[in-house]
Amino acid sequence: MKSLWGFAVILLVFSQASARTEALILTEPTEVVNKTSAVLKCNLTNPAGPVKGVYWTKDGKTIESTVSDVPTTYTEYNLTSINHQAGGKYACVFQTEPQAEEVIEVKTQPHVYAKKASEHGNEKDKGVLECLSHSYPLPTDWAWFVKVGDAGDKALIANGTDKYEIKSTPNKTTLYINDLDINQDMGVYQCYGKNDMGEGIAEIQLRVRSRLAALWPFLGIVAEVIILITIIFIYEKRRKPDEINDDDDSGSAPLKSNVATNHKDKNVRQRNSN
Ligand SMILES: *[C@@H]1O[C@H](CO)[C@@H](O)[C@H](O)[C@H]1NC(C)=O
Ligand SMILES: *[C@@H]1O[C@H](CO)[C@@H](O)[C@H](O)[C@H]1NC(C)=O
Ligand SMILES: *[C@@H]1O[C@H](CO)[C@@H](O)[C@H](O)[C@H]1NC(C)=O
Ligand SMILES: *[C@@H]1O[C@H](CO)[C@@H](O)[C@H](O)[C@H]1NC(C)=O
Ligand SMILES: *[C@@H]1O[C@H](CO)[C@@H](O)[C@H](O)[C@H]1NC(C)=O
Repeated sequence: MKSLWGFAVILLVFSQASARTEALILTEPTEVVNKTSAVLKCNLTNPAGPVKGVYWTKDGKTIESTVSDVPTTYTEYNLTSINHQAGGKYACVFQTEPQAEEVIEVKTQPHVYAKKASEHGNEKDKGVLECLSHSYPLPTDWAWFVKVGDAGDKALIANGTDKYEIKSTPNKTTLYINDLDINQDMGVYQCYGKNDMGEGIAEIQLRVRSRLAALWPFLGIVAEVIILITIIFIYEKRRKPDEINDDDDSGSAPLKSNVATNHKDKNVRQRNSN
Protein backbone atom coordinates (compact mmCIF):
# COMPACT_ATOMS: atom_id res chain seq x y z
CA MET A 1 0.00 0.00 0.00
CA LYS A 2 2.78 2.37 1.06
CA SER A 3 4.75 1.63 -2.12
CA LEU A 4 1.65 2.20 -4.20
CA TRP A 5 1.31 5.70 -2.74
CA GLY A 6 4.96 6.28 -3.47
CA PHE A 7 4.47 5.13 -7.03
CA ALA A 8 1.49 7.50 -7.43
CA VAL A 9 3.49 10.44 -6.12
CA ILE A 10 6.38 9.68 -8.45
CA LEU A 11 3.93 9.40 -11.35
CA LEU A 12 2.39 12.77 -10.44
CA VAL A 13 5.74 14.53 -10.16
CA PHE A 14 6.86 13.00 -13.44
CA SER A 15 3.70 13.99 -15.30
CA GLN A 16 3.93 17.56 -14.00
CA ALA A 17 7.56 17.77 -15.01
CA SER A 18 6.78 16.54 -18.51
CA ALA A 19 3.88 19.01 -18.77
CA ARG A 20 6.34 21.74 -17.92
CA THR A 21 8.94 20.80 -20.51
CA GLU A 22 8.62 24.35 -21.75
CA ALA A 23 11.46 25.64 -23.81
CA LEU A 24 14.41 26.64 -21.68
CA ILE A 25 16.25 29.69 -22.93
CA LEU A 26 19.48 30.64 -21.21
CA THR A 27 20.13 34.36 -21.45
CA GLU A 28 23.34 36.21 -20.95
CA PRO A 29 23.34 38.60 -19.27
CA THR A 30 20.02 38.17 -17.42
CA GLU A 31 19.68 41.97 -17.37
CA VAL A 32 21.72 45.01 -18.43
CA VAL A 33 21.94 47.71 -15.81
CA ASN A 34 23.51 51.14 -16.34
CA LYS A 35 25.86 50.03 -19.14
CA THR A 36 26.99 51.88 -22.23
CA SER A 37 27.07 48.75 -24.43
CA ALA A 38 26.09 45.09 -24.25
CA VAL A 39 25.66 41.95 -26.30
CA LEU A 40 22.38 40.19 -25.53
CA LYS A 41 22.58 36.39 -25.94
CA CYS A 42 19.93 33.69 -25.99
CA ASN A 43 20.55 29.95 -26.07
CA LEU A 44 17.56 27.66 -26.62
CA THR A 45 18.60 24.44 -24.91
CA ASN A 46 15.64 22.11 -25.45
CA PRO A 47 13.72 22.96 -28.61
CA ALA A 48 10.35 21.18 -28.58
CA GLY A 49 10.54 20.74 -32.35
CA PRO A 50 12.29 22.18 -35.36
CA VAL A 51 13.28 25.86 -35.16
CA LYS A 52 12.08 27.78 -38.20
CA GLY A 53 13.80 31.03 -37.39
CA VAL A 54 14.55 33.66 -34.79
CA TYR A 55 14.11 37.39 -34.18
CA TRP A 56 14.35 39.99 -31.41
CA THR A 57 11.69 42.35 -30.12
CA LYS A 58 11.93 45.55 -28.12
CA ASP A 59 8.94 46.46 -25.95
CA GLY A 60 6.85 44.03 -27.98
CA LYS A 61 7.87 45.41 -31.38
CA THR A 62 9.85 43.28 -33.81
CA ILE A 63 13.34 44.58 -34.59
CA GLU A 64 13.22 44.08 -38.35
CA SER A 65 16.99 43.87 -38.84
CA THR A 66 17.12 40.76 -36.64
CA VAL A 67 14.51 38.67 -38.44
CA SER A 68 16.13 35.47 -39.68
CA ASP A 69 14.84 32.16 -41.00
CA VAL A 70 18.01 30.29 -40.14
CA PRO A 71 17.15 27.25 -37.99
CA THR A 72 19.34 28.14 -35.04
CA THR A 73 19.11 27.66 -31.28
CA TYR A 74 21.47 30.52 -30.53
CA THR A 75 21.13 34.24 -31.22
CA GLU A 76 22.75 37.47 -30.10
CA TYR A 77 21.93 41.14 -30.43
CA ASN A 78 24.50 43.91 -30.16
CA LEU A 79 23.72 47.13 -28.36
CA THR A 80 26.73 49.23 -29.24
CA SER A 81 25.83 52.50 -27.52
CA ILE A 82 23.10 52.43 -24.93
CA ASN A 83 21.39 55.75 -24.43
CA HIS A 84 18.04 56.38 -22.78
CA GLN A 85 16.23 55.40 -25.96
CA ALA A 86 17.86 51.98 -25.95
CA GLY A 87 16.39 51.06 -22.57
CA GLY A 88 13.47 48.66 -22.52
CA LYS A 89 12.36 45.05 -22.54
CA TYR A 90 14.15 43.04 -25.20
CA ALA A 91 13.14 39.50 -26.05
CA CYS A 92 14.57 36.81 -28.30
CA VAL A 93 11.85 34.83 -30.06
CA PHE A 94 12.56 31.33 -31.41
CA GLN A 95 10.00 30.21 -33.97
CA THR A 96 9.14 26.75 -32.75
CA GLU A 97 5.78 25.08 -32.01
CA PRO A 98 4.90 26.67 -29.65
CA GLN A 99 6.96 29.82 -29.96
CA ALA A 100 9.66 30.24 -27.29
CA GLU A 101 10.86 33.58 -25.97
CA GLU A 102 12.82 35.09 -23.11
CA VAL A 103 13.14 38.69 -21.92
CA ILE A 104 16.30 40.65 -21.11
CA GLU A 105 15.69 44.04 -19.52
CA VAL A 106 18.00 46.91 -20.42
CA LYS A 107 17.83 49.58 -17.72
CA THR A 108 19.18 53.10 -17.91
CA GLN A 109 19.24 56.23 -15.82
CA PRO A 110 16.05 58.21 -16.34
CA HIS A 111 16.00 60.74 -19.11
CA VAL A 112 13.94 63.75 -18.09
CA TYR A 113 12.87 66.60 -20.33
CA ALA A 114 10.69 69.69 -20.06
CA LYS A 115 7.50 69.75 -22.06
CA LYS A 116 8.33 73.41 -22.75
CA ALA A 117 11.74 74.79 -21.79
CA SER A 118 10.25 78.24 -21.40
CA GLU A 119 6.86 78.99 -19.90
CA HIS A 120 4.86 82.21 -19.58
CA GLY A 121 2.19 83.07 -17.10
CA ASN A 122 0.13 86.13 -16.30
CA GLU A 123 0.31 87.76 -12.90
CA LYS A 124 -2.22 86.26 -10.44
CA ASP A 125 -2.82 83.24 -12.69
CA LYS A 126 -1.76 79.68 -11.90
CA GLY A 127 1.58 78.67 -13.43
CA VAL A 128 1.90 75.14 -14.81
CA LEU A 129 5.31 73.53 -15.40
CA GLU A 130 5.58 70.02 -16.81
CA CYS A 131 8.37 67.45 -17.13
CA LEU A 132 8.22 64.05 -18.83
CA SER A 133 10.22 60.85 -18.99
CA HIS A 134 10.15 57.98 -21.46
CA SER A 135 13.16 56.01 -20.31
CA TYR A 136 13.21 52.48 -18.92
CA PRO A 137 12.56 52.08 -16.10
CA LEU A 138 10.55 55.25 -15.47
CA PRO A 139 11.48 57.42 -12.48
CA THR A 140 10.35 56.11 -9.12
CA ASP A 141 10.65 59.56 -7.51
CA TRP A 142 10.20 63.09 -8.75
CA ALA A 143 11.25 66.39 -7.14
CA TRP A 144 11.14 70.08 -8.05
CA PHE A 145 13.66 72.79 -7.24
CA VAL A 146 13.79 76.50 -7.86
CA LYS A 147 17.03 78.40 -8.35
CA VAL A 148 17.45 81.22 -5.87
CA GLY A 149 19.96 84.05 -5.72
CA ASP A 150 22.74 84.84 -8.14
CA ALA A 151 24.90 81.93 -7.00
CA GLY A 152 22.35 79.53 -8.48
CA ASP A 153 21.56 77.78 -5.22
CA LYS A 154 18.59 75.48 -5.35
CA ALA A 155 15.66 75.30 -2.99
CA LEU A 156 13.53 72.17 -2.78
CA ILE A 157 9.88 72.90 -3.44
CA ALA A 158 7.57 71.39 -0.85
CA ASN A 159 4.30 69.94 -2.07
CA GLY A 160 0.93 71.02 -0.79
CA THR A 161 1.59 74.60 0.35
CA ASP A 162 -0.56 77.60 -0.56
CA LYS A 163 1.93 78.39 -3.29
CA TYR A 164 2.87 75.01 -4.76
CA GLU A 165 1.27 71.74 -5.69
CA ILE A 166 3.05 68.82 -7.32
CA LYS A 167 1.31 66.00 -9.19
CA SER A 168 3.39 63.09 -10.40
CA THR A 169 2.92 59.84 -12.29
CA PRO A 170 5.87 57.64 -13.36
CA ASN A 171 6.14 59.31 -16.78
CA LYS A 172 5.15 62.88 -15.87
CA THR A 173 5.39 65.46 -13.12
CA THR A 174 3.53 68.77 -12.97
CA LEU A 175 4.26 71.74 -10.73
CA TYR A 176 1.43 74.19 -10.14
CA ILE A 177 2.36 77.65 -8.85
CA ASN A 178 -0.59 79.58 -7.45
CA ASP A 179 -1.11 83.33 -7.68
CA LEU A 180 1.90 84.12 -9.88
CA ASP A 181 3.96 87.05 -8.67
CA ILE A 182 6.28 89.05 -10.92
CA ASN A 183 8.91 89.58 -8.27
CA GLN A 184 8.90 86.22 -6.54
CA ASP A 185 8.02 83.55 -9.08
CA MET A 186 10.01 84.42 -12.18
CA GLY A 187 13.09 82.30 -12.62
CA VAL A 188 14.56 78.89 -13.36
CA TYR A 189 12.88 75.72 -12.11
CA GLN A 190 14.32 72.20 -12.18
CA CYS A 191 12.59 68.85 -12.18
CA TYR A 192 14.45 65.74 -11.00
CA GLY A 193 13.47 62.21 -11.89
CA LYS A 194 15.17 59.39 -10.02
CA ASN A 195 15.38 55.62 -10.40
CA ASP A 196 17.79 52.94 -9.12
CA MET A 197 20.34 53.76 -11.83
CA GLY A 198 20.54 57.48 -11.20
CA GLU A 199 18.72 60.69 -11.96
CA GLY A 200 17.75 62.98 -14.80
CA ILE A 201 17.26 66.74 -14.66
CA ALA A 202 15.50 69.29 -16.83
CA GLU A 203 15.19 73.06 -16.51
CA ILE A 204 12.28 75.36 -17.21
CA GLN A 205 12.45 79.14 -17.40
CA LEU A 206 9.32 80.81 -16.07
CA ARG A 207 8.38 84.34 -17.08
CA VAL A 208 5.54 86.21 -15.44
CA ARG A 209 3.83 89.04 -17.32
CA SER A 210 1.94 91.85 -15.70
CA ARG A 211 -1.74 91.83 -16.59
CA LEU A 212 -1.24 95.23 -18.21
CA ALA A 213 1.29 93.67 -20.57
CA ALA A 214 -1.47 91.75 -22.28
CA LEU A 215 -2.95 95.14 -23.21
CA TRP A 216 0.21 96.54 -24.78
CA PRO A 217 -0.40 95.32 -28.33
CA PHE A 218 -3.89 96.84 -28.23
CA LEU A 219 -2.67 100.13 -26.76
CA GLY A 220 0.02 100.19 -29.45
CA ILE A 221 -2.57 100.02 -32.20
CA VAL A 222 -4.68 102.73 -30.57
CA ALA A 223 -1.61 104.99 -30.26
CA GLU A 224 -0.72 104.36 -33.88
CA VAL A 225 -4.19 105.30 -35.06
CA ILE A 226 -4.21 108.49 -32.96
CA ILE A 227 -0.81 109.55 -34.34
CA LEU A 228 -1.92 108.86 -37.91
CA ILE A 229 -5.12 110.86 -37.51
CA THR A 230 -3.17 113.75 -35.97
CA ILE A 231 -0.64 113.77 -38.81
CA ILE A 232 -3.36 113.72 -41.47
CA PHE A 233 -5.26 116.48 -39.69
CA ILE A 234 -2.20 118.75 -39.38
CA TYR A 235 -1.20 118.07 -42.96
CA GLU A 236 -4.63 118.91 -44.33
CA LYS A 237 -4.82 122.04 -42.21
CA ARG A 238 -1.48 123.32 -43.55
CA ARG A 239 -2.25 122.45 -47.15
CA LYS A 240 -5.33 124.65 -47.49
CA PRO A 241 -5.26 127.31 -44.83
CA ASP A 242 -8.01 129.41 -46.52
CA GLU A 243 -10.44 126.52 -46.90
CA ILE A 244 -10.88 125.98 -43.23
CA ASN A 245 -14.38 127.35 -43.25
CA ASP A 246 -15.30 125.64 -46.48
CA ASP A 247 -17.42 122.55 -45.94
CA ASP A 248 -17.30 121.57 -49.63
CA ASP A 249 -15.32 118.49 -50.80
CA SER A 250 -11.65 118.59 -49.85
CA GLY A 251 -9.93 117.99 -53.22
CA SER A 252 -10.29 121.59 -54.45
CA ALA A 253 -7.19 123.75 -54.71
CA PRO A 254 -7.07 127.35 -53.41
CA LEU A 255 -7.37 128.76 -56.95
CA LYS A 256 -10.72 127.13 -57.44
CA SER A 257 -12.04 128.43 -54.20
CA ASN A 258 -13.95 131.23 -55.87
CA VAL A 259 -15.71 128.84 -58.17
CA ALA A 260 -16.49 126.68 -55.24
CA THR A 261 -18.05 129.53 -53.32
CA ASN A 262 -20.02 130.47 -56.40
CA HIS A 263 -21.43 126.98 -56.59
CA LYS A 264 -22.24 127.19 -53.00
CA ASP A 265 -24.08 130.41 -53.44
CA LYS A 266 -26.09 128.82 -56.20
CA ASN A 267 -26.92 125.89 -54.01
CA VAL A 268 -28.00 128.16 -51.25
CA ARG A 269 -30.15 130.14 -53.60
CA GLN A 270 -31.68 127.00 -55.02
CA ARG A 271 -32.40 125.68 -51.59
CA ASN A 272 -34.00 128.98 -50.69
CA SER A 273 -36.20 128.96 -53.74
CA ASN A 274 -37.43 125.46 -53.01
C1 LIG B 1 23.92 26.57 -25.16
O1 LIG B 1 23.72 25.85 -23.96
C2 LIG B 1 24.19 24.51 -24.04
C3 LIG B 1 23.75 23.79 -22.77
O2 LIG B 1 24.04 24.55 -21.62
C4 LIG B 1 25.69 24.52 -24.22
O3 LIG B 1 26.18 23.23 -24.31
C5 LIG B 1 26.04 25.30 -25.47
O4 LIG B 1 27.42 25.42 -25.62
C6 LIG B 1 25.41 26.65 -25.46
N1 LIG B 1 25.61 27.28 -26.76
C7 LIG B 1 26.14 28.49 -26.89
C8 LIG B 1 26.28 28.99 -28.28
O5 LIG B 1 26.46 29.19 -25.93
C1 LIG C 1 28.58 41.90 -31.63
O1 LIG C 1 29.79 42.54 -31.35
C2 LIG C 1 30.88 41.65 -31.17
C3 LIG C 1 32.06 42.50 -30.80
O2 LIG C 1 31.71 43.52 -29.96
C4 LIG C 1 31.11 40.86 -32.42
O3 LIG C 1 32.15 39.92 -32.19
C5 LIG C 1 29.86 40.11 -32.80
O4 LIG C 1 30.01 39.46 -34.03
C6 LIG C 1 28.69 41.08 -32.89
N1 LIG C 1 27.48 40.31 -33.09
C7 LIG C 1 26.56 40.63 -33.97
C8 LIG C 1 25.34 39.76 -34.02
O5 LIG C 1 26.67 41.59 -34.72
C1 LIG D 1 0.93 66.71 -3.40
O1 LIG D 1 -0.16 66.97 -2.56
C2 LIG D 1 -1.43 66.71 -3.12
C3 LIG D 1 -2.48 67.07 -2.10
O2 LIG D 1 -2.07 68.11 -1.30
C4 LIG D 1 -1.54 65.24 -3.51
O3 LIG D 1 -2.77 65.02 -4.16
C5 LIG D 1 -0.41 64.88 -4.43
O4 LIG D 1 -0.44 63.48 -4.70
C6 LIG D 1 0.93 65.24 -3.83
N1 LIG D 1 1.97 65.00 -4.78
C7 LIG D 1 3.07 64.34 -4.51
C8 LIG D 1 4.05 64.21 -5.61
O5 LIG D 1 3.28 63.87 -3.41
C1 LIG E 1 2.12 58.10 -19.39
O1 LIG E 1 1.58 56.90 -18.84
C2 LIG E 1 0.18 56.77 -18.99
C3 LIG E 1 -0.24 55.51 -18.31
O2 LIG E 1 0.29 55.42 -17.04
C4 LIG E 1 -0.17 56.76 -20.47
O3 LIG E 1 -1.56 56.72 -20.62
C5 LIG E 1 0.35 58.03 -21.13
O4 LIG E 1 0.13 57.97 -22.50
C6 LIG E 1 1.82 58.18 -20.87
N1 LIG E 1 2.24 59.47 -21.38
C7 LIG E 1 3.30 59.63 -22.13
C8 LIG E 1 3.61 61.01 -22.58
O5 LIG E 1 4.01 58.70 -22.45
C1 LIG F 1 25.24 54.67 -13.57
O1 LIG F 1 26.21 55.25 -14.42
C2 LIG F 1 26.45 56.63 -14.18
C3 LIG F 1 27.48 57.10 -15.16
O2 LIG F 1 27.18 56.65 -16.44
C4 LIG F 1 26.91 56.85 -12.75
O3 LIG F 1 27.05 58.22 -12.51
C5 LIG F 1 25.89 56.26 -11.79
O4 LIG F 1 26.36 56.36 -10.47
C6 LIG F 1 25.64 54.81 -12.12
N1 LIG F 1 24.60 54.31 -11.26
C7 LIG F 1 24.71 53.19 -10.58
C8 LIG F 1 23.57 52.81 -9.72
O5 LIG F 1 25.70 52.47 -10.67
